[in-house]
Amino acid sequence: MGSLRVSIGSVRLDRPGMVASGIMDETGASMIRMLRSGAGAVVSKSVGSVPKPGHPNPNFTETVGGCVNAMGLPNPGIDAFGEEMRTAVSEGPIVGSVFGASPEEFAMLADRMEDYGACAVELNLSCPHAQGYGMELGTDPKVVAGIVSAVSDAVSVPVWVKLTPNTHILTQIASAAESAGADAIVAINTLKAMVIVPEFAKPLMSNKTCGLSGRCIKPVGVRAVWDLHKAVSIPIVGVGGIEDHRDALEYIMAGASAFQVGTGVLTRGPEVFADINAGLESFMEEHGYPDIRSMVGVAND
Ligand code: SIN
Repeated sequence: MGSLRVSIGSVRLDRPGMVASGIMDETGASMIRMLRSGAGAVVSKSVGSVPKPGHPNPNFTETVGGCVNAMGLPNPGIDAFGEEMRTAVSEGPIVGSVFGASPEEFAMLADRMEDYGACAVELNLSCPHAQGYGMELGTDPKVVAGIVSAVSDAVSVPVWVKLTPNTHILTQIASAAESAGADAIVAINTLKAMVIVPEFAKPLMSNKTCGLSGRCIKPVGVRAVWDLHKAVSIPIVGVGGIEDHRDALEYIMAGASAFQVGTGVLTRGPEVFADINAGLESFMEEHGYPDIRSMVGVAND
């Protein structure tokens, strides 16, 4: 049976799939539930310096092939999140996702996540619908480099950078992050989107724009990982529309060392991880791959 173990730099996981930030990761109990469902790690909800209510309703709906959300980074703030993190890290690896508006704020938040026991920090530089945060910062290579450099100086755990597909310079941004000390690139976050209700002649979301996730974005994510695999030497974590082992294999064969599942947890339930793990093991046995690592980038070499 092929091994499911993976390494994302110095982060070693028994299973290759992680829960993506923003789903089943707001409390210690929900993160533990996901680890027990077969996820190799959980990425926490993106947490900021102070409590943030997020955008008012409507902020979520299903669409063809996926979902759209404009949650607006709701979170309880880094002080209150400590208890949830400490509970969850007693069960398994938790990656602490943070968002901020400046290098100093990112560095402070990452340092706190390290104190709470995170095995790595993930910098959310890619939310497409939170004013002053996310992709507003993460589409400028110089800004990304400044944030990554400040965080790398502040923490000793690996620094992962989650990037947006809403740019034509993704590989330049990733290279800037790598040069500034990033340990892994996570790609992709949601595609900037909009839903209009014809009867109201208005956008559905209170925030107007939102982020598209789910299976409909998988080809965009796979292409992004393909490009990133050629552009950077640090590991890539693939995310976007993974719901079964064949979706995961596309990302791995494009160049991802591991992957995350977000909307797939909603559509398939927590069992999605056990199903993907079993599917990957069968595939490796049938096709003679000894482990996940032996498949990374094979479609791209
Ligand atoms: C949210 O919580 O607003 C979604 C996070 C993201 O898009 O990065």
